[in-house]
Amino acid sequence: MRSILGIETSCDDTCAAVVDEGGRTLANVISSQEDHGGFGGVVPEIASRQHLLLVNAIVERALRDADVTLGEIDVVAATQGPGLVGALLVGLSTAKALAAARELSFAAVDHLQGHVAANFLSSPGDAAFEPPFLCLIASGGHTLLVHVRGYDGFEVLGRTLDDAAGEAFDKGARMLGLGFPGGAALERLAADGDPEAFSFPGSRGERSRGGRGTSRQAFAKSLDFSFAGVKTALLYRLRELSELEAQARAADLAASYQTAIVDSLILRAEQALERTGLERLAVGGGVAANGELRRRLGSLGVTLHVPERVLCTDNAAMIASAARFAELLPYPEYLALDAYASGERSP
Ligand code: KG4
Ligand code: ZN
Repeated sequence: MRSILGIETSCDDTCAAVVDEGGRTLANVISSQEDHGGFGGVVPEIASRQHLLLVNAIVERALRDADVTLGEIDVVAATQGPGLVGALLVGLSTAKALAAARELSFAAVDHLQGHVAANFLSSPGDAAFEPPFLCLIASGGHTLLVHVRGYDGFEVLGRTLDDAAGEAFDKGARMLGLGFPGGAALERLAADGDPEAFSFPGSRGERSRGGRGTSRQAFAKSLDFSFAGVKTALLYRLRELSELEAQARAADLAASYQTAIVDSLILRAEQALERTGLERLAVGGGVAANGELRRRLGSLGVTLHVPERVLCTDNAAMIASAARFAELLPYPEYLALDAYASGERSP
């Protein structure tokens, strides 16, 4: 059976994986860089240098875990974009070199298609999720709703106009004095708070029309997201409170803030389901770990697929998974491929 080696280095995780042509993950190695916390965000130059230090060892580890040699790999795949260009170049160049040394075929994979393709992997407890479906991708770098019609592409229905949902969580967490990345910490703090204590705008004020928690009555004109308003609202609330008050009300602030972000995601997902008539929904990206989001998605009345956590956050198994359905470039056609920083290349 053919084996695909995938490499992903678009942000701050150095990842390599081996997937077989049936979509089974044979190895999935992820090394998350711990070097950015003190800066309150990922520092691109540090990320690239760390990838460079780690990538060969991570690839070797993936091959060892999968119990295959490089000689048994048939296709090499790497994330081509979008992401941090310096970081992407490390994985892309490594993958090209490995493929070229053996004159193997190569797949250049779009990172967002990778998040979609995480759903095509199967594991003993989790069968592959087959198109067509709606996919909500919400991570630290991206937030979009896509219509997945087939295995090799998607149509973008809505995307964020400013911050990504994870970024909004991270910035809120920072204002509340939590570490980076702060989404999980904010969720823990929110668990003891009252989500209705503060009224934050769900994006574009649709909550003021529909009322909180009544998103079925609310109407999102566009399926695009915006998290700038809720972020600014939190900043203003914090300015209005004394330091002691802000401390005492931190859990309420976190719960209200989280609810505003989740409302915005749910409202548009619901609207997209209605517009497309799709009855199947998949979720990816780090924000998919959020319990409030999962609970609310679970009550939308459609078939919901959430890949296991390690496949929701950045990983290379999803890149190898996408490569199963991607155009394969024969040697040496891929040697001149370049990375791209932004946009999506819906194949
Ligand atoms: O997909 P991911 O691991 O990396 C990329 O950004 O590509 O996503 C990380 C993001 C961070 O912004 C983090 O704060 C957020 O996912 N996140 C969460 C939770 N766990 C991680 N956001 C809300 N609730 C969580 N439990
Ligand atoms: Zn990602």
